[in-house]
Amino acid sequence: MPAAAIDRAKVALARAIGDSRVAVDADACGAFAKDESEADGRVPDIVVHAESLAHIEATLRIAEELGVPVTPRAGGTGRSGGAIPAAGGIVLATAKLSRIKDLDRKNLLAVVEPGVVTGDLHAAAEAEGLFYPPDPNSWKSCMIGGNVAENAGGPRAFKYGTTREYVLGVEACLMGGHTVRSGKRTVKGVTGYDVTALLVGSEGTLGVFSEITLKLLPKPREIATALGLFRDSTSALDAVTAVLHHGLVPRCMEFLDPPALDALRSQGVAIDARAAALLLIELDGGHVEADLMDLGEVLSSAPGSIDVQVAQDAARRAALWEARRAMSPTTRKLAKYKISEDVVVPRSAMSELLDRVAGIGLREGVRNLTYGHAGDGNLHVNFLWNDRAEDEAVERAVSQLMDATLALGGTLSGEHGIGLTKQKYITREQGPALVQLEHGLKRVFDPKGLLNPGKIFPPDGTHHAC
Ligand code: MLT
Ligand code: ZN
Repeated sequence: MPAAAIDRAKVALARAIGDSRVAVDADACGAFAKDESEADGRVPDIVVHAESLAHIEATLRIAEELGVPVTPRAGGTGRSGGAIPAAGGIVLATAKLSRIKDLDRKNLLAVVEPGVVTGDLHAAAEAEGLFYPPDPNSWKSCMIGGNVAENAGGPRAFKYGTTREYVLGVEACLMGGHTVRSGKRTVKGVTGYDVTALLVGSEGTLGVFSEITLKLLPKPREIATALGLFRDSTSALDAVTAVLHHGLVPRCMEFLDPPALDALRSQGVAIDARAAALLLIELDGGHVEADLMDLGEVLSSAPGSIDVQVAQDAARRAALWEARRAMSPTTRKLAKYKISEDVVVPRSAMSELLDRVAGIGLREGVRNLTYGHAGDGNLHVNFLWNDRAEDEAVERAVSQLMDATLALGGTLSGEHGIGLTKQKYITREQGPALVQLEHGLKRVFDPKGLLNPGKIFPPDGTHHAC
């Protein structure tokens, strides 16, 4: 990136948006170099703190005119490097656009800005007797703009689906500073191409959200949680199938494998020493009491079951969630470096995937543990290491995990996105013809390839953004 273009961008942005919203010194920009992945950070040259649609438009107009790359960023809690400015240039931060503009009880929808913290939307909706189901585990700090860009999931996705199911429409600004509004405020609507669906999950490579219209649901009347301990992973995963065959539709079905339980024990979380796998299952709706009794029966009579605990009041439910909620921060403490993958396989292939992961770990000598959203077949296989000398072994392990996932009929990413960390594998799943078509779509939105360059696709030599 020529220094002259950056210098001109600094001057033009300060003039258009105001000095106080344009950070240019290395200290202020340093915090925008990384996200929650292990992808290598890169300090941006400029950070724009947008507070209005006009600021987003001005940034994308100036960037296009001067040929400067732009990386959009909301909460910066992503796990695949999506918000890292891989090509330097401008980070366009939307965290200050944090208003819930409308909570429409009659029509069950919310209109929000991209910087609304997901947990704040949960709380605001619930205060009105409403419910926003998507619940990425980082809900206390992640933001709706990033959730929509990555099509974030979370434990409740089993029953309620991922963020995509709740995005009715978006206002998005494209490179050059042109704003489009796609989607609707109505329950139904099939007018034209579904551009909203294309923008959701596009990982900040097609447009920058300035407003998002979200579908809400009535708040579930009751919630109940059950925790089941099992003697091994296969018994726990077979119990997931048994629960479904029994006709129950839990909102969450979370799983922890033996190394994950050992990791929690090593950090002081009390877990029955006989247990080698854990399921956390949550029900909601109107007949929870009866369903909880059924669920308890199914879990305790499942082969390999060791213990079942159930809870309906909020404090006891929170205690049952403790181990699962602690998983990601606990894993972070175990080693200097960690990668949390988010592969998905058909539910029936989860045990086989765990066996293959164990084989990969042994072959490459890389410590690993797995937990995740068993109802969806979405497993967070974590690889842990302490020394940069092990980087190559970890890379081989990740590559073999991707191959095993695809061989079992799965997909590379269930909720974290491809970003920087998985772009080298995408063609293995999608094949060159589909990737080529996606390059073409990218060119329609961003002909110069300046919006979030280097993400999702491996470079193809013809278009520097993808
Ligand atoms: C989770 O389910 O805890 C999150 O997706 C983050 C992760 O641990 O990978
Ligand atoms: Zn997850």
